[in-house]
Amino acid sequence: MTPEGIRYEEIDVSKPHPARIYDYLLGGKDNYEADRRAGEELVAAAPEARIGLRANRAFLQRAVRHVVGAGVRQVLDLGTGLPTSPNVHETARETAPDTRVVYVDNDPIVRAHADALLSDSGGTRIVLADVRDVQGILDHPDVRGVLDFDRPVAVFLVAVLHFLTDADEPGRIAATLRDALPAGSYLVLSHATGDFADRTDAQAVYKKATAGLNLRTYAEVEAFFDGFGLVEPGLVQVPFWRPDTEPPAPYREVGIYGGVGRKD
Ligand SMILES: C[S@@+](CC[C@H](N)C(=O)[O-])C[C@H]1O[C@@H](n2cnc3c(N)ncnc32)[C@H](O)[C@@H]1O
Repeated sequence: MTPEGIRYEEIDVSKPHPARIYDYLLGGKDNYEADRRAGEELVAAAPEARIGLRANRAFLQRAVRHVVGAGVRQVLDLGTGLPTSPNVHETARETAPDTRVVYVDNDPIVRAHADALLSDSGGTRIVLADVRDVQGILDHPDVRGVLDFDRPVAVFLVAVLHFLTDADEPGRIAATLRDALPAGSYLVLSHATGDFADRTDAQAVYKKATAGLNLRTYAEVEAFFDGFGLVEPGLVQVPFWRPDTEPPAPYREVGIYGGVGRKD
């Protein structure tokens, strides 16, 4: 165990990891040589990848403001990524200081950094877990200790389900979450797609990483919202979900869908 709490034996830094590739492309510092190489390969394969990931992060922040503006005070952020300020709890608390947030990720580096970031922050928790064990997450004492599932919860699955294969049954994961939520809860989800360009080269980059990239069509992504009513403007490319300003033309290439659904 290091002073930062990272157990290095849990981490293979020779292989690119989705959290650290993302961190690199967002301009972060928590990445290794293999992640930086994969990030550059990704940009070479899909030139709009960098703006796409930034647009995804901006979508996440607009969605946080939306659900908090709608009165939700609890967030379960699955596949949270390395802390990239402002984080979900920081954005939420600009509007509602009492918002409670549980972050979940399967990358021990994410947990270690989040632990450090959250140590002074009441009403937040980081849990190291795999979204494929969705019931384990819902039953986890640290999740139950922070979130009250008798009151609305906003579940975030932002840029994470595309790291799951069909055999991992991402639809079952979304449905299990939906069934655990009371009316008035939200699902915030984004997902990579090949609907706007051939992304075979981008997928090849992730084949060398710890998790592959599984592109899905509009209909496949929309199906994750089964049982939720999509709020306006529905499922769209992330830069076009309630943008603060009209996105410039290159954003039309961004291959990431995003949407926000409400459970009635
Ligand atoms: C591209 S980042 C997205 C981060 C953040 N949600 C955002 O959109 O800004 C994907 C995150 O999902 C995590 N992840 C990938 N597969 C996962 C799994 N099976 N269980 C939990 N987390 C996972 C990665 O470690 C990474 O931190």
